[in-house]
Amino acid sequence: MNIGIIVYSQTGNTLSVAERVEKALGEAGHTVRIERVEAEGEGPEVRITSAPDVTPYDAVIFASPIQAFSLAAATKKYLSGISDLSGKKVYCFVTQHLKKDWMGGNRAIKQIRAACRKKGADIISNGIVHWSSDLREKQIDVVVGLFRAI
Ligand SMILES: Cc1cc2nc3c(=O)[nH]c(=O)nc-3n(C[C@H](O)[C@H](O)[C@H](O)COP(=O)(O)O)c2cc1C
Repeated sequence: MNIGIIVYSQTGNTLSVAERVEKALGEAGHTVRIERVEAEGEGPEVRITSAPDVTPYDAVIFASPIQAFSLAAATKKYLSGISDLSGKKVYCFVTQHLKKDWMGGNRAIKQIRAACRKKGADIISNGIVHWSSDLREKQIDVVVGLFRAI
């Protein structure tokens, strides 16, 4: 399967998880590509400077950090502008500093879910990694495991 991992990452955490997912999916025989969302500015003023195209992919994994207890504004803006996702398998994961899902992660997953639904796809599965948690490595393993069934 041709899989795109579409990542927004400011400080590299989300990207590092995406690279682990890429490696696992590549080892499972898939064609995998990481593409970066790039942005300038903050909050409602954010401007997307690089918006990966989802059309080539059979499966798409969206990945983003949490910012201000919410989906990063850049990811939100990017998702509002993507083309149709109908017929694609769509997944997502987010990373956040704080240790509880309710400190941004749950809300962000809902936001990604709603954005993808508007584009014709339901998220098949999702994951959250808590960067400050002692369980971080285990959480990353769980995220990598989410995509084994692709
Ligand atoms: C502006 C800003 C706001 C943030 N807000 C939150 C937050 O509300 N909850 C949280 O758990 N982490 C928050 N974080 C931490 C990031 O979500 C976390 O460090 C994430 O792993 C960064 O991913 P990245 O390295 O891919 O950018 C925030 C970080 C930044 C820069």
